[in-house]
Amino acid sequence: MTRRKLAAGNWKMNGLATAGVELEALIEATRGAAAEVLICPPATLIAAFAAKARGSAVAIGGQDCHAAPGGAHTGDLAAEMLADAGASHVIVGHSERRADHGERDAQVRAKAGAAWRAGLTAIVCVGETEAERDAGRAQEIVGGQLAGSIPDGATAVNLVVAYEPVWAIGTGRTASLDDIAEMHDFLRARLVARFGPATGEAVRLLYGGSVKPGNAGEIFAVSNVDGGLVGGASLKADDFAAIVKAAG
Ligand code: PGA
Repeated sequence: MTRRKLAAGNWKMNGLATAGVELEALIEATRGAAAEVLICPPATLIAAFAAKARGSAVAIGGQDCHAAPGGAHTGDLAAEMLADAGASHVIVGHSERRADHGERDAQVRAKAGAAWRAGLTAIVCVGETEAERDAGRAQEIVGGQLAGSIPDGATAVNLVVAYEPVWAIGTGRTASLDDIAEMHDFLRARLVARFGPATGEAVRLLYGGSVKPGNAGEIFAVSNVDGGLVGGASLKADDFAAIVKAAG
């Protein structure tokens, strides 16, 4: 089974209009890239970035969406609004949303369903805390999140799963290659068990947590790692282009 690698950049709450120069540099640097490239900027930049990236190898995504298509939800964005602004993907259930906004699996699952309703690919994030890993519960936690956060009806097109150990995000610490392989093999088996071999083998599994140019190649070579979800190192075009290259 060959799955095309995906290098996804999560800019989080970083980037003003002036950051368009980084996108332009990334578009130049990734022309003809073998891997799929995605940038998820803050929502304020989605429309402008999507317009800039049209016709390039770089797709644009959102970082979160509301489950409803519209209504009285001050400050929230519907998946349909992201699609209307030019997004093709949306991250749901990132650990920072789970921690800062109390998002639970059922809510993440509803958001992923909203993404599908709007025609977006949902990047569903799962990952254990350090205390959970130390207690030997990493697979139990991540397996539970996987089961609870993905609606029925997943396909290789509408779903990407990102495994991001919480303690590795923004800390400069990455999981060991053995730990990444063990978790990704486990996630693959769970996807196959739930969605069947055709879909389960075809859904991409990203690793996230302090991926950078210096470690991307070895991480992307690990069993069942189909690319990365990259925070800090996606903000600079040079760094992210090197990561895209490592994914190719
Ligand atoms: P990081 O963030 O690459 O800065 O560790 C990854 C993420 O949160 O998606």
